Amino acid sequence: MGISVAIDGPSGAGKSSLSRLAAKALDFIYIDTGALYRTVGIAASRAGMTTNSLEKMPQLLKKMQVQMFLNDKKEQVILLDGEDVSSQIRTPIAAMMGSAVSALPPVRAYLLDFQRNMAKSNNVIMDGRDIGTVVLPNADVKVFLTAAAEQRAKRRWLEHKEKGLDVKLEDVLAEVNQRDYNDTHRVIAPLKQADDAVLLDTTNLDFEASLEALLNIIKAKL
Ligand code: DC
Repeated sequence: MGISVAIDGPSGAGKSSLSRLAAKALDFIYIDTGALYRTVGIAASRAGMTTNSLEKMPQLLKKMQVQMFLNDKKEQVILLDGEDVSSQIRTPIAAMMGSAVSALPPVRAYLLDFQRNMAKSNNVIMDGRDIGTVVLPNADVKVFLTAAAEQRAKRRWLEHKEKGLDVKLEDVLAEVNQRDYNDTHRVIAPLKQADDAVLLDTTNLDFEASLEALLNIIKAKL
């Protein structure tokens, strides 16, 4: 059993970029679990489903295949039925579909063992919504990473812009609010801070300061 660090929090709090760099600094493996939900979301979309017509999901789960591995640069690569979808899962539609499918119990059950197995024999930093509460309840360190919705939307919008995606800030904020609502109100494994998680609010911290704060929390616990 390796050391595990669970990082949970709402969308756009900087979980993935901070976790990736923290993992690098500690020589841990970084596992982005949101990528798994996004991949299932893409699969649903390809099968003709929409955010409010997901009835055929159980059948789809039986035939779809998700694989995740680390490439030579130790970056996470994700395959859907053998096809690399690592870039496609970063689109707004993949985010919305990922959020929608993540409310379905069969999807969460399908991905649970997958996530636990990845943490079994490695030192990992795993980020998501329910890592400290459900996936790795015995994680050595738990952090709840958050920031004000407006700040998170602004960061996501800048990311989209850098990638050349033409989106309006107000639409990104609406998407952030919608996903916050979905993630915190779903019946199964809703987003919430674990009782033993340390809260890190990055609203007024820049990236460097957030990373330093995160590393300090982790180091203090290990
Ligand atoms: O972190 P992200 O934006 O890539 O996540 C995409 C969606 O997946 C998000 O709306 C909620 C869901 N998710 C989840 O329910 N549980 C996780 N552990 C990770 C993500």
